[in-house]
Amino acid sequence: MKIFMPQNGGLDEAAAEIRAGNLVAFATETVYGLGGNALDDTAVAKIYEAKGRPSFNPLIVHVPDIATARKYVTFNETAETLAATFWPGALTLVLPRTEDCPVSKLASAGMESLAIRVPGHRLALEFLKACDRPLAAPSANPSGRISPTSSQHVIEGLEGRIAGVLEGGSCAIGVESAVVGFSETGQPVLLRPGGITREALEAAAGPLLDHKADGTSPSPGMQLSHYAPEAPVRLNATEKRDGEAFLGFGLAQEPIADINLSRTGDLTEAAAKLFSALHLFDEMKVTRIAVGPVPEVGLGRAINDRLRRAAAPRDSND
Ligand code: TXA
Ligand code: MG
Repeated sequence: MKIFMPQNGGLDEAAAEIRAGNLVAFATETVYGLGGNALDDTAVAKIYEAKGRPSFNPLIVHVPDIATARKYVTFNETAETLAATFWPGALTLVLPRTEDCPVSKLASAGMESLAIRVPGHRLALEFLKACDRPLAAPSANPSGRISPTSSQHVIEGLEGRIAGVLEGGSCAIGVESAVVGFSETGQPVLLRPGGITREALEAAAGPLLDHKADGTSPSPGMQLSHYAPEAPVRLNATEKRDGEAFLGFGLAQEPIADINLSRTGDLTEAAAKLFSALHLFDEMKVTRIAVGPVPEVGLGRAINDRLRRAAAPRDSND
């Protein structure tokens, strides 16, 4: 992979890669992020692919300032206070997507909320401005490995899987950002402890609720697994029954598919389309969805993970 040196035109070269739909890792004050154009479903799908994530966890979207953030999420009063106090910096806010939010639904893993932050690293801010679009960026490590705090770590983990890394030295903070979401009653919830301490957050915003990993969290944002379309879902369907809308994959299913995730059987394309296809079925108000088999390899694992969750018995509280 290429190491883009920020002097000597490397910043613009790296930004051109992003605009071309490719992935570039870049330094933030917390850890290196694996950046891709957050407006582009395919670029976001490539992020999951490069990390080898077995499921689609939602990603943090990085923007250069709060004015840009307002285009994508709706702030409440506490979020305003937290952003004013800690941005640019190691705080991520999980907020409702704006009505016409153009950020890829795959970046939100299909949910109505979006995690967003303004990083506090001068080069990261310059890079975001040069890219001229929001960057979805999880930590730039393969899934299951530790987060990278130098370009060398990124190269060790992701060599051959991404266009390059923008050299930004070693990360000053070295742990990921604190993630704060909101309960249905608008109380702030600490979803992930991180680079800004709980004490500092509470001094600005008042007491934080705790996120409970057992699913009893008051935060709607943590019901990660529970995006499901309105209609019931039947998996591994090989035929289309009466009243079903068919979600296909590959050429063989094309004749019966109402939406084909990828005619050519390309898993990256399929991942990119998955959540918008399910949302489209909602908009079409279909009554039942049948899904053809998707191979259980590469990104197919994450696609099948989400489809199984969509097909699972529905909880009454989501
Ligand atoms: O410091 C950081 O936050 C780094 C740098 C690159 O910015 N990024 C990072 O991203 O750690 P990632 O993808 O490794 O972690 C994202 C975290 C996860 O814990 C995820 O569950 C949570 O944010 N998250 C993202 N979107 C969410 C959402 N809509 N609702 C609830 N949690 C969300
Ligand atoms: Mg991570």
